[in-house]
Amino acid sequence: MTVAEGGFAMPAIGRREVLGAAGVAACGLAVAGCGTGDAEAKQVPGIKGQVIAKTAEVPVGGGTVVRKWKIVVTQPTAGVYKAFSALCPHRGCSVGSPEDNVMRCPCHGSEFAADTGQVMTGPATGSLIAYQVRVEGDGIVVV
Ligand code: FES
Repeated sequence: MTVAEGGFAMPAIGRREVLGAAGVAACGLAVAGCGTGDAEAKQVPGIKGQVIAKTAEVPVGGGTVVRKWKIVVTQPTAGVYKAFSALCPHRGCSVGSPEDNVMRCPCHGSEFAADTGQVMTGPATGSLIAYQVRVEGDGIVVV
């Protein structure tokens, strides 16, 4: 603790701590470039607790793209629902609804597995961001 002019006490902080705070602030402005691996930080704000689709809208082996939330909901096997960001990690186009458990990006042809969101075919090198969901009644809800 340091006593500054005027008599008020100031905590002693080092250069590293100041740079750390600046780094956090800069990262907060450009979340996508921070590489924190925190997928939750990249999810659509306000989506938690929302019914994003009805189970009847999501066929087994297929799925549906919900434009409002920029999300794709899949049912890779009967009764198992998954949700991913519909935004392709290559250049941000929206992937299409899955067919035969594969989501395809119409822009450059990347393909993603409907059960994990993992990239199967490039040029995308990253996976689709996954959302945790559960079924409540006939709705699929982000948790
Ligand atoms: Fe999807 Fe390029 S934007 S493959």
